Amino acid sequence: MVNNLKNINKKTIQDININKKRILLRTDYNVPLDTNGNISDDIRIRESLPTLQYLIENECKIYICSHLGRPNGKIIKKLSLKPVCKRLSELLNKPINLLNMHNEITDTDTDTDTDTINMLENVRFNKEEEENNPNFARKLSNIADIFVNDAFGTAHRAHASTTGVTKFIPSVAGLLFSKEIKILNSLLDKPEKPFTAIIGGAKVSDKIGVLDNLINIAQNIIIGGGMAYTFIKAEKLILKNIDIADNEIKHAKYLIEKSKELNITINLPKDVIVTKEFQENAKFRNVASNNIKTNELIMDIGDESILKFKDILNNSKTILWNGPMGVFEWKNFSNGTYQLANHLSNLKNVTTVIGGGSTAEVFGKLNLENYISHISTGGGATLEFLEGKILPGYASLLNN
Ligand code: 3PG
Repeated sequence: MVNNLKNINKKTIQDININKKRILLRTDYNVPLDTNGNISDDIRIRESLPTLQYLIENECKIYICSHLGRPNGKIIKKLSLKPVCKRLSELLNKPINLLNMHNEITDTDTDTDTDTINMLENVRFNKEEEENNPNFARKLSNIADIFVNDAFGTAHRAHASTTGVTKFIPSVAGLLFSKEIKILNSLLDKPEKPFTAIIGGAKVSDKIGVLDNLINIAQNIIIGGGMAYTFIKAEKLILKNIDIADNEIKHAKYLIEKSKELNITINLPKDVIVTKEFQENAKFRNVASNNIKTNELIMDIGDESILKFKDILNNSKTILWNGPMGVFEWKNFSNGTYQLANHLSNLKNVTTVIGGGSTAEVFGKLNLENYISHISTGGGATLEFLEGKILPGYASLLNN
């Protein structure tokens, strides 16, 4: 499976007449909140603005619908969309009404005032949302003429407000959703070569599907983060030809062997930063990868690896990055991730795509968002897309 979406072309808000229509707009405003309940990264809100502007210009009556966190069908005050509503209102310079709709969506709506935008309170306060309950979906759809899905980040969930409503009213993609699909699709479908994928993060198990797919597409794969340990172990085991019990190591071994067959390069860190404890201020050392002791943890990539990886990036035409090189949240272990992020931002004539989640957070933290071709707003959705899976939130929209 390389790319299941290749030939599926969906209608967007630009393909149908939305003028003066009532719109149910699904966005993904599942934004990170700090301990004081303030939004710590508003990229998902900012990225939804082009669709909103388009709907406003077309004098639509807008009902925004989103989830925030995982309230599991209960009303949880700290997961209210209030801060999101406030931020969006500032960005649009327009009042936004937050509707407390817990199970109380009216079947008919006669309010046609297009100046006020409405936002439904966290849709996951209703247990019917994640159950994809058809009655709940019908109630939601009854407030609108057209459903616009702009929640790319939630496209991998088949819930009432992502796929359920599409059974009742014409449903099309918003501008962010279609942009995400177009750009990510171009990575899987004939990317300009050499194509390098940087894959990091803590566990190989989270990235197996992506690696299985990208190994058929990329020319170079760079492995970093805690998961590099699995590959380093697997490589050693190949040399020593030892029986392998651990499934993750077994899969890493399979990928290393497959890369040789396909003549692509899997680049492991030559050296790494290790500690004996998983702690912010733990004592650390830079060590050659073949000298890691059994009681040591990989916290970052080392200096030599950074140089080698930068060199590979210099010779790439398309770069996709998903997953940090180390525990970048802690200063002592942020060097590898930050150095590669800065390097990527300085490259010219290269398509650079950041695959959402914590990697996107890095670029936000370093204020480098404007130096990258595309930063995906999806986390799990981006991963599933890159695995070559069909996203139900996309599949359920009208074909073009
Ligand atoms: C995300 O942040 O990945 C999406 O908003 C989906 O959230 P979920 O994993 O809680 O469904």
